Amino acid sequence: MTTTTEHLTTFKPTTRKLAGYQFYREVLGSPKYVVAPMVDQSELAWRRLSRRYGAQLIYTPMINAKIWADSTNKVIRNAFFDLETGEEGDPTTDRPLIVQFCGNDPEKLLKSAKALEEHCDAVDLNLGCPQEIAKKGKYGAFLQDDWDLIYKLVNILHVNLSIPVTAKFRVFSTVEKTVEYAKMLERAGAQILTCHGRIREQRGQNAGLADWAKIRAVKEAVSVPVFANGNILFQSDIEVCLRETGCDGVMSAEGQLYNVALFSETDKPTALPPLNLSQHPRHADLALEYLDIVKSLKTRTSVSAIKGHLFKIMRPALSRETDLRERLGKVTIKKTGNFAEGALQPYVDVCLEMKERMDRDAKGAEGKSLDELVTIDEATGLRILPHWLTQPYWRSPKPALATG
Ligand SMILES: Cc1cc2nc3c(=O)[nH]c(=O)nc-3n(C[C@H](O)[C@H](O)[C@H](O)COP(=O)(O)O)c2cc1C
Repeated sequence: MTTTTEHLTTFKPTTRKLAGYQFYREVLGSPKYVVAPMVDQSELAWRRLSRRYGAQLIYTPMINAKIWADSTNKVIRNAFFDLETGEEGDPTTDRPLIVQFCGNDPEKLLKSAKALEEHCDAVDLNLGCPQEIAKKGKYGAFLQDDWDLIYKLVNILHVNLSIPVTAKFRVFSTVEKTVEYAKMLERAGAQILTCHGRIREQRGQNAGLADWAKIRAVKEAVSVPVFANGNILFQSDIEVCLRETGCDGVMSAEGQLYNVALFSETDKPTALPPLNLSQHPRHADLALEYLDIVKSLKTRTSVSAIKGHLFKIMRPALSRETDLRERLGKVTIKKTGNFAEGALQPYVDVCLEMKERMDRDAKGAEGKSLDELVTIDEATGLRILPHWLTQPYWRSPKPALATG
């Protein structure tokens, strides 16, 4: 492939760029608990809430580099990452932060990343998205077969940005190919690798289990820090994952979305059972806290992100409180309404009503031990906590995790 980027390789960052473990320790603060990039869900408001509950590093939702590179498209650009309010990537309230991009054009990727390099600690390349939209656009996991292009995408950022580049990828069906791939990403310049232990075909209802053995092989083969991604549902899974993979940190997406407190109180080691209640707060309280953050921000949270979060946070009770589920589903918020001035009130009202009911049920169970209240889900073998508490949601058949 011919490229017009040669001139850019002469760029010399003004400050010394740290690499690998030095970057991981000195800039990021050695994070072990990492919130994954999530389209429409790892937005600023969620990041603020997550940091309160123990998240040590967070990735933005993926930003399409091709779209971002078009600087005339201000509204869409701000929806991806709002540069005008100054809140996203703010050094005191939104760091450490890694901005993730997807794309397949090295020049556009570099142009987009350059525009955000002052607002984050690193830029990540998404090599894992398995969705149809990624297939159509030829990005994410659909680049997996074009290693030359991937090398160029990572390397152009490595050579030209003033901050490090990182990469998040899925495993292949063999350990050998997965390891070769990871080593290629390291050679290209990736300073942290996140290994999602599922192959491209494992998605949606077929997600199944992530393969920690492949993640371990990657960790052993490279010299840069590695984050393990996949299978983290309960707090107790974290230490097991770190032990079995040897990785530097764990990244969670769905587990963290359903329980924002997944990473809290991690300095207190938890045995396999008992469950630690501080890691499973009452969900209606968390939903209200999230809405308070949304209201407090100048940066606009997308209405779909808000609804998505509320459904996930309060999921344990929505199947029984069907009237509230219906009300939640019917709420429509004007895209232009001012969140600070009551536009979110319909959501607040549903959450307050939920809180009242959950507090009532929790009071009714006073005197019982948690063990008496926990049941085991027949289909998955996972523990089900009382319906007023946050807890993981597992969509696939039996996960057979050691700790669930
Ligand atoms: C709502 C949602 C949005 C996601 N968006 C992204 C994304 O923008 N970029 C990305 O690399 N992965 C994305 N993923 C995948 C996750 O980052 C993660 O790799 C995957 O869900 C496996 O982790 P888990 O088992 O902890 O859920 C998304 C996942 C979810 C559930």
